[in-house]
Amino acid sequence: MPQRRVLVAVTGGIAAYKVPELVRALRRAGCTVRCAMTASAGQFVAPLVLQTLSGESVRTDLFEREQEGQIDHIALADWAELVIVAPATANLLAKLASGLADDLVSTLLLATRAPLLVAPAMNVNMWNHPATQANVATLRERGVCFVGPESGPLACGWEGEGRMAEPAAIAAEAERHLGAPTLAGEVVVVTAGGTREPLDPVRVFANRSSGKMGYAIAAEAARRGAEVVLVSGPSALATPAGVRRVDVETGLEMRDAVHAELSKCTVFIAAAAVADFRPAARAEHKIKKESLADGEALTIELVRNPDILAEVGAASGRERRLVVGFAAESQDLVAAARRKLERKRCDLIVANDISRAGAGFDGDTNAVTFVCPEGEVEELPLLSKREVAERLLERIETLREKRS
Ligand code: CTP
Repeated sequence: MPQRRVLVAVTGGIAAYKVPELVRALRRAGCTVRCAMTASAGQFVAPLVLQTLSGESVRTDLFEREQEGQIDHIALADWAELVIVAPATANLLAKLASGLADDLVSTLLLATRAPLLVAPAMNVNMWNHPATQANVATLRERGVCFVGPESGPLACGWEGEGRMAEPAAIAAEAERHLGAPTLAGEVVVVTAGGTREPLDPVRVFANRSSGKMGYAIAAEAARRGAEVVLVSGPSALATPAGVRRVDVETGLEMRDAVHAELSKCTVFIAAAAVADFRPAARAEHKIKKESLADGEALTIELVRNPDILAEVGAASGRERRLVVGFAAESQDLVAAARRKLERKRCDLIVANDISRAGAGFDGDTNAVTFVCPEGEVEELPLLSKREVAERLLERIETLREKRS
């Protein structure tokens, strides 16, 4: 990981005594490492140890003028390509989940746009407490990654889950996160989420897409060094680090936003569930129920939305831009995906069988099949959406190599 910039945030648990080993492992791998500590972390490991091993000054205080003068905390948060929190106490997890920023470390964690890799360490009962588990679930949902904790004898005398992962395992996970910048120079435009098609000022036609798949792809492309634009329908998900997000609501807005980004785009990935139809007209005022007699049917005229993927496919030369579409099918998966591939002039279709448990909308997992124009078909097992994103971008890199 030569020259990769890693910030290690240390909080106050006995496992902090292993952090010098983590810093050494990261340095051996070529990273530039800076450390920040909470006041209680200083009870377990001396700042001087981390300073000596990292070769960089260690930040311990938000308000200490000299420290803030050397490199202010926002600059430090911006500097990091990856932030590792090790050990992460139950208190830190709670603060991070609630967005509290009352000391240097919690402020850095809120300010940084870099991915977070968290190595919890605590007593087994604290780890298993519903509050801690709820905080972990919240953080996972926001894209925070965890390494450990492991099971075994704990420093407090208890036995069970709560040991911090070994420094070598944390460093290996960091390496996986930073990855090689294999997509440097590419401009990847990803559509994600569902669109909302208004009927009147309060009602919309929407769908159940969460945006998780598209967001995972955007995060993974950024991790691989691409410039990434995420054109997103309404979503509560956090914008992944290093990604420029353009918010849209309707299919027509999504189309305009995509076209505005297209001249620079070298890889287009359509993961959005764009509404195929929209109300032909949007009522200026709320449609009142009194406008219908009892038992009378309300007729809403729908018109077709433009097919963004097909438009981009038609506008893209094979050498210039790779075009990837998704296909949600409930029967004849590969044949239907192949038809879509040809009709929309794609270089790859990611087909998912929505009748399979664990695949498709809203979940954290997906089971997809890659369908390529040359006739190749690769069926992947049920994977997390992050893993699907990794496999997809690997395949895009292979396609890119073949084309060039
Ligand atoms: N898509 C798009 N714009 C639309 C509709 C779909 O860009 N208006 C993209 C989706 O993002 C996805 C792919 O097209 O990548 C597949 O869309 P899908 O709705 O499954 O296919 P359709 O061609 O609409 O066919 P059908 O719904 O009949 O299966």
